[in-house]
Amino acid sequence: MARLVTTELLLLLVWVAPVGAQPRTLRARTDLLNICMDAQHHKEKPSPEDKLHDQCSPWKSNACCSTNTSQEAHKDISYLYRFNWDHCGAMEPACKRHFIQDTCLYECSPNLGPWIQQADQSWRKERILDVPLCREDCQRWWEDCRGSFTCKSNWHKGWNWTSGHNQCPVGAACHPFHFYFPTPAALCEEIWSHSYKVSNYSRGSGRCIQMWFDPAQGNPNEEVARFYAEAMSGAGLRGAWPLMCSLPLVLLWLLS
Ligand SMILES: *[C@@H]1O[C@H](CO)[C@@H](O)[C@H](O)[C@H]1NC(C)=O
Ligand SMILES: *[C@@H]1O[C@H](CO)[C@@H](O)[C@H](O)[C@H]1NC(C)=O
Ligand SMILES: *[C@@H]1O[C@H](CO)[C@@H](O)[C@H](O)[C@H]1NC(C)=O
Repeated sequence: MARLVTTELLLLLVWVAPVGAQPRTLRARTDLLNICMDAQHHKEKPSPEDKLHDQCSPWKSNACCSTNTSQEAHKDISYLYRFNWDHCGAMEPACKRHFIQDTCLYECSPNLGPWIQQADQSWRKERILDVPLCREDCQRWWEDCRGSFTCKSNWHKGWNWTSGHNQCPVGAACHPFHFYFPTPAALCEEIWSHSYKVSNYSRGSGRCIQMWFDPAQGNPNEEVARFYAEAMSGAGLRGAWPLMCSLPLVLLWLLS
């Protein structure tokens, strides 16, 4: 009897171990909601910011960015990342406004929790991965950048930073955007190392993240984050079902 009990406990431990080793999937879904990532300029926690600047103002009621960050997000070679949008001549304003909006979403949104991952980078501990961007937001970004130029398809890596801001590395020629980004997905997914993936869902569906929204109707991304957080913790719980179902049985058996 004692030996059997030991075996059963061992089995139980073996079962528990792998489940316990994945805190992310078993994380309560509320831990993924209303949070700021641990990166360079983000606030620790989201809170109201009355004075968010211009294109970042939709996040006023609850934001991970400070007023200062929202102002910097609109500048060329800002103190945020010293990034030069005009690395192949002036980027057209119609194109640049999408990059500003992308910066506002990244810096200000408290609704990216379900896609936050550890980052192996010196300048930030966490990053976002595969945020499902609404298809129209990506399509429009790509269309509006048709007339602008760049020299690379991944803008995270490979620049020449010797001058203090990014310059095209030797051998990377300037071409129209569509040369490096032949499709909307190539642009939205490759430019920031898969921070985004293009969703097949449309704006207003509640199933994709909107880069652009009218705050008069609230922030539509709250519902989206809730949906994916639930789906993710649901998957985690399903994985734990055998364990949860077997516990009472094991206890009964042990007591008998
Ligand atoms: C924001 O803060 C940084 C660092 O303190 C500073 O260099 C920059 O000038 C500030 N920007 C604005 C718009 O106040
Ligand atoms: C980087 O840019 C500087 C000019 O700012 C240039 O002198 C140097 O050759 C470049 N280096 C590489 C590796 O592209
Ligand atoms: C994406 O959505 C369109 C229209 O809603 C549909 O026709 C298409 O099959 C979908 N594609 C995928 C891969 O789900």
